[in-house]
Formats: sequence, structure tokens, C-alpha cells
Amino acid sequence: MLTKINHIGIAVKSLEETLPFYRDNLGMPFAGIEEVAEQKVRVAMLQVGESKIELLEPTSEESPVARFLEKNGPGIHHLAYEVVDIEAAIAKLRADGARMIDERPRSGAHGARIAFVHPKSSNGVLTELCQCGH
Ligand code: CO
Repeated sequence: MLTKINHIGIAVKSLEETLPFYRDNLGMPFAGIEEVAEQKVRVAMLQVGESKIELLEPTSEESPVARFLEKNGPGIHHLAYEVVDIEAAIAKLRADGARMIDERPRSGAHGARIAFVHPKSSNGVLTELCQCGH
């Protein structure tokens, strides 16, 4: 059902302050910044091998990432697995009794279709399914 780790999401207070570490110090290819209005975040994607690092900066106090930062401070926010068929993956998880935050896919950065599993069903690790089509 899962094909790889697509990305690791990291909550940051400021993309401008955090980017140089990943792009310049660690030397990761940087694919640009995109605003995902639905989630009230600005997202910077950096490539590492076949996976990515997704830096998430809240654009509003009501952003889930803003609430995360308030509670935990900056750090790892979620783990995203690549799936071939996101509807099938959601259906399997639900059939197995997992609780989903998203029972239907929604749009993430770069045109991906994503769905989050509820952390109650994934032992505290916020888990994202991601169908990127590439
Ligand atoms: Co993500």
C-alpha cells in the first residue's frame, strides 16, 4: 500500500530563518515556496534522495501548525507516506478501524492529494498519506 516516505513535515516559525540551514548548510535542492491556503501554511520543499523535507510556516493564528508551535515549539510535525491509490488506502485504514482526520483526500502542496490519519490511531505520530502522481 505504501511505496516510500514521501516527506517529513517540520513546523517552523519562519521559513526565511530556517531555509538556509537545509538549503545551504545541508545542501538540499530547494524546490520553492508555495502557499497552501486551505491549511493556512506556507510550505518550502527540499529534496533528499527520493524523499523530501517539508518546512511548514503558519500564515494565521488559526493554522493547525500555529497551534502545534504554541504547544510543542518548532520540530517534526508529521510523516508522509507515498501511496499509489489514496482512496484505496483510506478505505483500507477505515475498514481496519483506524480513525481518519480526512475521510476524503484533499489538496496538499504541489498538486498532491493527501489525507491525514488521526494521531490517536497512529500512536501519536501525525501520519499523512500522499498521492503525488510522480
Ligand atoms: Co505533508
